[in-house]
Amino acid sequence: MKRVGIIGVGEYLPKRILTNADLEKMVDTSDEWITTRTGIKERHLAAKDEATSDLATKAAKEALKDARVNPKDLDLIIVATITPDMQFPATATFVQANLGAKKAICFDISAACAGFIYGICVAQQFIARDTCRNALVIGAEVLSSITDWKDRNTCVLFGDGAGACVMAEVKSGGILSTYLGSDGTKTDLLNLPAGGSRLPATPKTLKERMHYLKMQGNEVFKIAVTSMVGAGQEALKRAGLKCGDVNWIIPHQANSRIINAMAKRLGFVNAQVYLNIAKCGNMSSASTATALCEAVKEGKIKKGDIVLIDAFGAGLVWGAVIIKW
Ligand code: ACO
Repeated sequence: MKRVGIIGVGEYLPKRILTNADLEKMVDTSDEWITTRTGIKERHLAAKDEATSDLATKAAKEALKDARVNPKDLDLIIVATITPDMQFPATATFVQANLGAKKAICFDISAACAGFIYGICVAQQFIARDTCRNALVIGAEVLSSITDWKDRNTCVLFGDGAGACVMAEVKSGGILSTYLGSDGTKTDLLNLPAGGSRLPATPKTLKERMHYLKMQGNEVFKIAVTSMVGAGQEALKRAGLKCGDVNWIIPHQANSRIINAMAKRLGFVNAQVYLNIAKCGNMSSASTATALCEAVKEGKIKKGDIVLIDAFGAGLVWGAVIIKW
C-alpha cells in the first residue's frame, strides 16, 4: 500500500468576531464564567450570506495553493460537516463547483467534531489503494446556524470556520496510524432533534426551538476526556510510538479543561498542545482542521515532527491519527 501524507493546509475564519463581552449582552453569562469553564474568549461568525461551502472553498483554495495542486487534478473532495449548506446535495459538490474540480468525486462525512479525522482516514484508503491520487479533505462549519442564541448552556461554546488539507502519496513520513471509534447508544447526549426524517419541520418543532443543537454538557465532558485519551493511546500503540515521541498534539477544541485533562492523562505537557480555542471556540469538524493549519503556518510543526490529531464528538464518535510531518 502507498504511503499517504498531507501535502498542503489552509484555513478560513469569517471576519465577524463575537466576544464574551458581546455574549454578556445577549444571555445571562459572564466573560469570567466562559473563560474559566471553557477557555474561550471570542469566536468567528459567518456573515448572513456565507454558507458552509463558502468557508470550505476559501480554506480549500489556500490548501491547494500550499500543496501546489491544481483543482483540476483533484480526484476526491470530502467535506466533514454537521452544518451542510442543504440537507442534500452534499456540501462537497458545491465546493467542487466553486473550485472547478471537474474530475473529483464528492461526498460529505457526518462525524461531528471527529469529522476531519474521519475524512483523513477515508481519503487515506482511497489514495493508498490507488483509487485516487490527490484528495482534498475539509472540516467546515457554520455552527451559528444551529446555535440557540437564547440558550446560555450552548451559545457561548461554538464558532464558525473551515480548515482543509490536501492529501497524496508521499516519499517519506506521512500517516503512521489511525484509529476510529463510535458509540451509537448515546445519541441523546448531543444532537439536533428536528429537521430530519425522525422529526420533520413543523410549526411545533420551530416553536419548541428543536432546530437548534442540544447538548448535555457535563455528561459529554466526561466521555470526551476518556474517549480522546483512549483514541490517542490506541493510535500511539498502532504506530509503535510512546507519548514522548510525539512533538505536537492537535486536539479537538471543545473545552480547554478537556484538553488539559486529556494531555495530562496521556503524559503530554502543555507546550506540545496546539490551541486555538480562545479565539475560535468549538468549531466541530473545523477545529482540528484549523488548528493543524495554524500550527504548520506558524512554523510550530516542522518537517520530521510526529503529530497526533485527536478528537471526539456527537454520535458519539472519536478518532486519532498520527502523522510524521
Ligand atoms: N454562563 C453562566 N453560567 C452558566 C453558563 C453560562 N454560559 N452555562 C451554564 N451555566 C451554569 C449552569 O446553569 C450551572 O448552573 P447551576 O449549577 O446553578 O445549575 C453551572 O453553570 C454549571 O453547569 P455545567 O453544565 O455543569 O457546567 P460545566 O462545568 O460542565 O461546563 C460545558 C459546561 C462548558 C458545556 C462543559 O460541560 C463542556 O465543555 N462539555 C463538553 C462539550 C464537548 O466536548 N462537546 C463535544 C463536541 S461538540 C459537537 O460534537 C458538536
